[in-house]
Amino acid sequence: MKRLLSGIKPTGELTLGNYLGAIKQFVDMQKDYESFIFVANLHAITVYNDKEELLKRTRDLVAIYLACGLDAENTTIFLQSENNYHTNLGWVLECNAYVGELNRMTQFKDKSKNKSENAITCGLYTYPTLMAADIILYDADVVPVGIDQKQHVELTRNIAERFNKRYGQTFKIPEPIISEITQKIYDLQNPTKKMSKTEENPKGCITLLENPAAAAKKIMGAVTDSDNKIKYDPENKPGISNLITIYSALTNVPIKDVENKFKDSNYGTFKKAVAEVVSQFLTDLQAKYQEIINSGKVDEVLDKGIKKAREIAQAKVKEVYEKVGLSR
Ligand code: TRP
Repeated sequence: MKRLLSGIKPTGELTLGNYLGAIKQFVDMQKDYESFIFVANLHAITVYNDKEELLKRTRDLVAIYLACGLDAENTTIFLQSENNYHTNLGWVLECNAYVGELNRMTQFKDKSKNKSENAITCGLYTYPTLMAADIILYDADVVPVGIDQKQHVELTRNIAERFNKRYGQTFKIPEPIISEITQKIYDLQNPTKKMSKTEENPKGCITLLENPAAAAKKIMGAVTDSDNKIKYDPENKPGISNLITIYSALTNVPIKDVENKFKDSNYGTFKKAVAEVVSQFLTDLQAKYQEIINSGKVDEVLDKGIKKAREIAQAKVKEVYEKVGLSR
């Protein structure tokens, strides 16, 4: 069975975009892959995060993984910070990556834009080498990520290939998997911008733990054009296309069929249907989340997951240290 690995940072609140763009994919793929899904909490501190908030979001993320349908029997779920081998390998990879490469990372450029050098952490800069370690530590075959992370997976491939050439075959070269329909879920108020958990405008973003009725209201208030036709056309009709994507992804109805189903409806009717689907989805998810967070399940799953993750990672780091000359 091929191996799949991915992780999410426990920063900001998880949004519908995180679910449709990432978690749903992990859930759908877990039966076909040996899956490793972790909480990227080391990546969370590349910018300052309040301790209590970080702790809460870390637990919440695990509970949400489970509530969304990740099956801890078959999927290894763990905290990045509980496996020290990630930082061990991260350092070795930093020493096999170049400043020129890291300078080309568009996420770093975006996040450091207009900031003083004294306000950008070194961790933010070397973020991609730690991410590379997360991936190749487990010999992952596939890495489902959002389009914004594709460049990081490409860098991972380059570093792994370079290492293999220098020190002998050690790492598998991973493939990024970017889902097509749910590549991007956009802001409801500004549908050319990604729906983001750090978005200032709260009306544009639906979070997984928010009140379902409030979420339905946001759908009803979503910005659309004045053409009043339910047609998927992201370029000319980004608002309505975004709602079609959301509806299609939550109901597993193909986009063409959604267009067909609502071909005689106006925007009001369609929005109502989307709002209903979204609020039902949130209601069900939150019931499961409540049950999980109030039980001992999160710790149980993490204890089991970290054991397996450490075992695999330990063997890989030992091999790396030996190849590099870091043993006796
Ligand atoms: N950088 C990813 C994000 O922001 C999170 C992440 C960290 C990750 N390590 C990873 C994703 C390894 C996939 C594989 O979404």
